Amino acid sequence: ADTISLPAKNGNVTFEHKKHQESLKDCKACHEKGPGKIEGFGKDAAHKLCKGCHETKKAGPTKCGECHKK
Ligand code: HEM
Ligand code: HEM
Ligand code: HEM
Repeated sequence: ADTISLPAKNGNVTFEHKKHQESLKDCKACHEKGPGKIEGFGKDAAHKLCKGCHETKKAGPTKCGECHKK
């Protein structure tokens, strides 16, 4: 899917999968064990992975409301 909706009760997160695939060009940045469902993906893992990268690269959203939209 080009866009994956990640459900969260404080507002679902719209994840542009294709855009990240094309800009990062590295599946393993997110899929250590190969493409598909990410084992143990949830609040803590997502914050570490998603927010962590955005902070490191100083690109992409790092504030709650920039990812979680009601
Ligand atoms: C999950 C809060 C920032 C992406 C969650 C959940 C909470 C939460 C409470 C769990 C929701 C549930 O169990 O239904 C917050 C707060 C933030 C914050 C308070 C600010 C301090 C962010 C940012 C991003 C993000 C900046 C994106 C870069 C996600 C994702 C999930 C999630 C992808 C997991 C959805 C899933 O389980 O598939 N967040 N969040 N959050 N958050 Fe955040
Ligand atoms: C889900 C492939 C890159 C994050 C998936 C799925 C596939 C896949 C097959 C499951 C089916 C679907 O819902 O579409 C790939 C390939 C990549 C790539 C081939 C490289 C070209 C990335 C990158 C990230 C990422 C770079 C993070 C920035 C995710 C997430 C899910 C997902 C969060 C949902 C996981 C879940 O629901 O457990 N990917 N992906 N992917 N991908 Fe990727
Ligand atoms: C931009 C979400 C993981 C790098 C964004 C945006 C969102 C987002 C909402 C802004 C909208 C957009 O421009 O498309 C997420 C979520 C992630 C995730 C929910 C986890 C599933 C990552 C990871 C990296 C990354 C792991 C780096 C390894 C970037 C960059 C941008 C960005 C560089 C801004 C530039 C661009 O659009 O390519 N992300 N992201 N993200 N993200 Fe993520």
